[in-house]
Amino acid sequence: MPLVKMTELFAPHDNTTFAVGAFNVSNLEMAWGAIQAAEELNTPLILQIAEGRLRYSPLDLLGPVMIAAAKKCTVPAAVHLDHGATLETIKLALSLGFTSVMFDGSKYPLEENIRRTREVVELAHSKGAAVEAEIGRVGGAEGDYKSVDVLVTSVDEAKKFAEATGVDALAVAIGTAHGNYTVKPQLRIDRLKEIFDAIKTPLVLHGGTGLTADDFRNCIANGIKKINIATASYDNSARKIREVCESKPDAKFFDFSDAIVRGTRENIKHHMKIFNSEGR
Ligand code: 13P
Repeated sequence: MPLVKMTELFAPHDNTTFAVGAFNVSNLEMAWGAIQAAEELNTPLILQIAEGRLRYSPLDLLGPVMIAAAKKCTVPAAVHLDHGATLETIKLALSLGFTSVMFDGSKYPLEENIRRTREVVELAHSKGAAVEAEIGRVGGAEGDYKSVDVLVTSVDEAKKFAEATGVDALAVAIGTAHGNYTVKPQLRIDRLKEIFDAIKTPLVLHGGTGLTADDFRNCIANGIKKINIATASYDNSARKIREVCESKPDAKFFDFSDAIVRGTRENIKHHMKIFNSEGR
């Protein structure tokens, strides 16, 4: 299967029955586990890595592995840079062949976010790649960044931003946060619905780890087309490694390697089923 653009995998605007899962990976084992999950469930996949995690997995090393994994996959797969913060990293991702990039300008005032995002859109579109951006602010911390509070997306700002930038996907802040929740999130489904009714740009949900199956279904029914999952794959892989340690005192390197593949695969399959993206 060819490597595709994530926009080709999104449900059409009016189809609110499924969303495509975007799963963060940090090494070859995770990328491989993700591909296995997609193939076993015959489900499209977005493989992604966040700029805040590159300290552990340099993009010029892991990026080509992600591209090769997507090309090897027998179902359509896209490769995406998550939470791009610098033009340098965005340019590197595009030069490696990533089919989309996120520019996260949510920390900037609206006008500056628009200006910087437009620059990325021009660059990425000239190379045939798609762009995701963020408006409002998803809470928590993705990777090594400082944790931030949620700033719920305003409908007017989302509309203005989408029109002014021409982004291909828009991450909205509706009460979710990156990482594990310490208190149950209060999802603003009312706000999501208003944004969905106001703009046609495909909407993205960040901070998927820890939401319930009902939360996900509710978000999909109200317009979410792409859902990001990172922490749950890391945690499930770590759990599998601990199980190996406990059950096999003489465990070898490859037992741990295999634990990461299994942990990632299991978590991704679990989420793909909830997102109802099997066979799409
Ligand atoms: P979680 O780590 O909460 O799953 O969030 C993932 C995410 O939104 C990546 O951008």
